Amino acid sequence: MTPPGIERVLFTEEQVHQRIREVAAEITEKFRGRDLKLIGVLKGSVFFLTELARAIGLPVKIDFLAISSFGGPASASAAGMVRIAKDLDDPIEDEDVLLIEDIVDTGFTTRYLLQTLAGRGPRSLAICTLLDRTVRRIVQVPVEFRCFEIPDRFVVGCGLDYKQLYRNLGYIAVMNLAAVQNQERA
Ligand code: IMP
Ligand code: MG
Repeated sequence: MTPPGIERVLFTEEQVHQRIREVAAEITEKFRGRDLKLIGVLKGSVFFLTELARAIGLPVKIDFLAISSFGGPASASAAGMVRIAKDLDDPIEDEDVLLIEDIVDTGFTTRYLLQTLAGRGPRSLAICTLLDRTVRRIVQVPVEFRCFEIPDRFVVGCGLDYKQLYRNLGYIAVMNLAAVQNQERA
């Protein structure tokens, strides 16, 4: 049984597991012989990061940061108004860093984070995202590792939320936003 508001499943739990294992293998190959630092963006990337980390066959450290958008919700990151609300615990100087994202959409959040982290002198810095919605990209960012490309629909599950809910769904699903919002109004 899928919860109300879920229109259809885009990727099943098994497809998600399988794809994360494939991307973890790519990462393991690419960074063989080195240690990795995974940086998760709270809260959306937490589910993806933990599963990915367990499947990477290298010594891995993890750290987290949180961002907040200001100037109004949906439009804020699109206007590039993002700031760090919780910073990393440790420096990343001389480390091989992978920025772990739930989704790269317009690209504004990711670009801001890349610029901020690049200024801290990592040995290398690359992006790994669960979902990539390139059709909505406004600023170009180099996405080195991606699990899935998705269409221009609002999705939830595997860390992605609608009003903080649905993050714990094991699959990735398209939400029927119009139906949910109608219900909320009724
Ligand atoms: P960007 O700055 O436009 O790339 O915004 C990315 C952020 O918007 C993500 O980290 C998510 O928090 C949020 N987001 C974008 N699309 C979706 C979606 O389809 N479902 C849930 N959150 C989304
Ligand atoms: Mg997010």
